[in-house]
Amino acid sequence: MQKYIEIIEQDKNRHLNELIEFLKFPSISSQSEHKPDMENCASWLVNNLNNSGIKNTKIIPTHGHSIVYGEWLEACKDAPTILIYGHYDVQPVDPVELWTSKPFEPEIRNGKIWARGTADDKGQLFCHVKAIESHFKANGKLPVNVKILFEGEEEAMESHLDDFIIQNAKLLSCDTAVISDTEWFTEGLPTICYGLRGITLAEVTVTGPNRDVHSGSFGGGIDNPLNVLCWMVTQLRDRYGRIRVPGFYDNIVELTDEEREAFKLLPYDEKLYCEDLGINSVFGEIGYSTLERVWARPSLDLNGIVGGYTGEGAKTIIPSKASAKISMRLVPNQEPEDIANKIEFYLKLIAPPTVKVEVIAKAGGKPVLTPLNDPAIKAASRALKLAFGKEPVFMREGGSIPVAELFQSVLKANTIFIGFGLPTDNIHSPNENFDLNNFYNGIKAIAYFLDESSK
Ligand code: BES
Ligand code: MN
Ligand code: MN
Repeated sequence: MQKYIEIIEQDKNRHLNELIEFLKFPSISSQSEHKPDMENCASWLVNNLNNSGIKNTKIIPTHGHSIVYGEWLEACKDAPTILIYGHYDVQPVDPVELWTSKPFEPEIRNGKIWARGTADDKGQLFCHVKAIESHFKANGKLPVNVKILFEGEEEAMESHLDDFIIQNAKLLSCDTAVISDTEWFTEGLPTICYGLRGITLAEVTVTGPNRDVHSGSFGGGIDNPLNVLCWMVTQLRDRYGRIRVPGFYDNIVELTDEEREAFKLLPYDEKLYCEDLGINSVFGEIGYSTLERVWARPSLDLNGIVGGYTGEGAKTIIPSKASAKISMRLVPNQEPEDIANKIEFYLKLIAPPTVKVEVIAKAGGKPVLTPLNDPAIKAASRALKLAFGKEPVFMREGGSIPVAELFQSVLKANTIFIGFGLPTDNIHSPNENFDLNNFYNGIKAIAYFLDESSK
């Protein structure tokens, strides 16, 4: 057995205890009241990196939340440089009453650790830190050069990291970027993700009369912004989920036959999928399987809509205002900016003159695909086999990790996604959890990956 693996075995309990400390910071990036928690969390992380043997660690302030950086560049000549990315910020916790244990008081139950950020992404990010530590403890060095880039704004969709990467391309230059922030296809099946969707967000606000007015005195006489908004959002998709925004599907890269065949080999059971969600059937564009639609076709979803009175009893009004938030998931080669322009144009086009319609559309991040023949994918496959005793499967992902495309376009490095999450982790939901076996073996997998990357 490799010495670093023995060390990981010995240090198991301490690794868990440190993870618990890390999880106790309520590092919710989108809520300004948590700014001090964000800073405390970043300091803790820098400190932990230092103690793990990483050099030149620092907190890099931005106009938003701080970046945590570190490096170790003393590997032997010809060894590659690996950039490790993760995010220490987490999603908000509401509805907090649905949590079995408190979101920032980690608890161990059923072989899992339960707290906000366990899987997304603190637990996964921490696998890298402890893997590095074990190499240092075993050999006093790493098999490869390493640069660490941990951010605190991923969940808030801010773009300060983008600017930092563009301005510091030299500092961050690397052969490969690696991210552990994705999940396995299913429990027991180590998985390499090779593609994520991009994202564009839109917010529509419809304004009618300058105050809420009586629906009897004015109904039929003036337009209702809430009715208008509902009508407008129904114009965005047809009955089968095909998006009606003009030009939305331009330039899309179609799935290859090889990919479609490979997706079919994955152990996907549509009946179980529906049962788990409590739905009668799946939904979406005709001609594509569910996995194809989620991983390789764009989608458009209403995230929330507000307006008018929904409280107890009756309140007969025409509301003054209504608004909705929309997310669109994008696939290669859709451009988030272009899609933002297209949805804004379309919503303004169909807006009736009887109300005021405002649209704010924001590009969130580009889709990304990693070529399967990248040598780092091969190293990751060997590492997963060594750590989990099974050949990994390959999948794409419907979610987004906006930074990955920047590594490709700015740093000219492919990103490898070696995630350890499971579909049952409840990321972004109440009762987020991370499987402890995946945590412990995830540390081993990354330790092996660093080793295999030097070969
Ligand atoms: N880790 C997720 C991405 C992800 C989602 C991976 C599902 C695997 C499965 C990431 O933290 C995330 O939540 N991304 C956001 C990005 C957005 C806020 C720009 C997303 O996909 O909504
Ligand atoms: Mn994440
Ligand atoms: Mn997330």
